[in-house]
Amino acid sequence: MTQNPDTPAAPSIEDIARAAAAVLRRNDAGSMTRAAPGLYPHMWSWDSAFIAIGLARFDVPRAIRELQSLLDAQWSTGMIPHIVFNPDEPGYFPDFDRWGTARAAARPEGVQTSGICQPPVHAIALRHILDRGRERGGADRAAAEEFARGSLDAWAAWHHWLASVRDPDGSGLVEIHHSWESGFDNSPRWDAAFARIRPGDVPPFQRRDTLHVADASERPTDEEYTRYLWLVEQLKSVDYDDAAAREVVDFRVKDVFFSAVLAVASDVLADLADEFGRTDLAPGLRDIGARFRLGVRSTIDPETQLARDFDVRAGEWIGTETIAGFAPLFAGASAEVTAAQTALLRGERWMGDPRLRFPLPPSTSPASPAFRPSTYWRGPTWPFLTLLLGWAVDRGGDPDLAADLRTASLAQLADLAFGEYYQPFTGEPLGSHDQSWTAAAALEWAGELGVAAG
Ligand code: SER
Repeated sequence: MTQNPDTPAAPSIEDIARAAAAVLRRNDAGSMTRAAPGLYPHMWSWDSAFIAIGLARFDVPRAIRELQSLLDAQWSTGMIPHIVFNPDEPGYFPDFDRWGTARAAARPEGVQTSGICQPPVHAIALRHILDRGRERGGADRAAAEEFARGSLDAWAAWHHWLASVRDPDGSGLVEIHHSWESGFDNSPRWDAAFARIRPGDVPPFQRRDTLHVADASERPTDEEYTRYLWLVEQLKSVDYDDAAAREVVDFRVKDVFFSAVLAVASDVLADLADEFGRTDLAPGLRDIGARFRLGVRSTIDPETQLARDFDVRAGEWIGTETIAGFAPLFAGASAEVTAAQTALLRGERWMGDPRLRFPLPPSTSPASPAFRPSTYWRGPTWPFLTLLLGWAVDRGGDPDLAADLRTASLAQLADLAFGEYYQPFTGEPLGSHDQSWTAAAALEWAGELGVAAG
């Protein structure tokens, strides 16, 4: 076959890695990376962990700086807040004032943060930074080892806070108090829980997010936003005190995906603790890993083979077909559960749907009545999550699935738009472009193939 001279050649993996590194450099605000240039001008907790994974592919000290900035914002309770505000960046709503964390006793002095958290993927990023530092050797190796050793206690405090404060009854499932904590803001997982909420007085607000996307239907609705802000008002009313929060807040859900991340990240952190001779830390972290893995397993619906969330306020399971249902694959599971979930994931309700532009799992199954292909967490494919899944299944002993995800993900990212999320049938990039954690995913996939960003 001859190539049509008018058709530009598809970008190579080298081109993708180069463009991705350029995105991270452009979004660099010094000691933190903007999650996206316009839509998210601050530092988001789990975004920054993926960003650090990408940065470590070409600048280990800058990757360390990213995680250190996040640790500088850690609350005295151990919580890592979901947003660290850059005071020089106006234009995001809800801002520091609207969050009202100025009076929160546990917030560190002089750092502006939100008052909720996000999935604890950070230990996974720490592992990647250490591995990259060791590969590069010299000063990078020394810096990565010093950072890993020096930050173990802080990460362990974060995991212990989640395991105690957010699971006081030892169920092995993390309770969240806002869908923003799940990271899956408007996923249909949360529809029933939100439908039950009757918002009280929410001070007037002007959304900013919809100014940054071409089509507002790609974002949550105003109704959803009112509920999000109502929950902020409730948490604010008790100054983000942990014990009081669960009494007042209308949204209380045991999040199975969050729990899976805590399980696997605790295993990773326990391994790091062992490597650095921290016999005081490793067993407690291993216990958390085991407890939450069991918790995740306990939610599997025997009929669908999918893991479920649990709505505490309603006392009901949530069985919507979303990618969170594959929590056991993220957490690591028995051979039997892994085989059943892998078959499902590769099947027609997920990666095997013939309508997909790239064989990648969307955030909601296209076979679900809740599926919306262009709306944020209701259907689009999220590249950072594909990366996390690839890492998890590789760790779980399925390098073939990891390789398939990598190949399809790099094909998706060859548009060089680095979309926040992608329409699964057309492959169109949606939400923000030049999204930092999407660029980071591209860098990591390329790096795994031995392609450096330079
Ligand atoms: N993801 C949220 C937003 O859209 C905040 O965490 O702003």
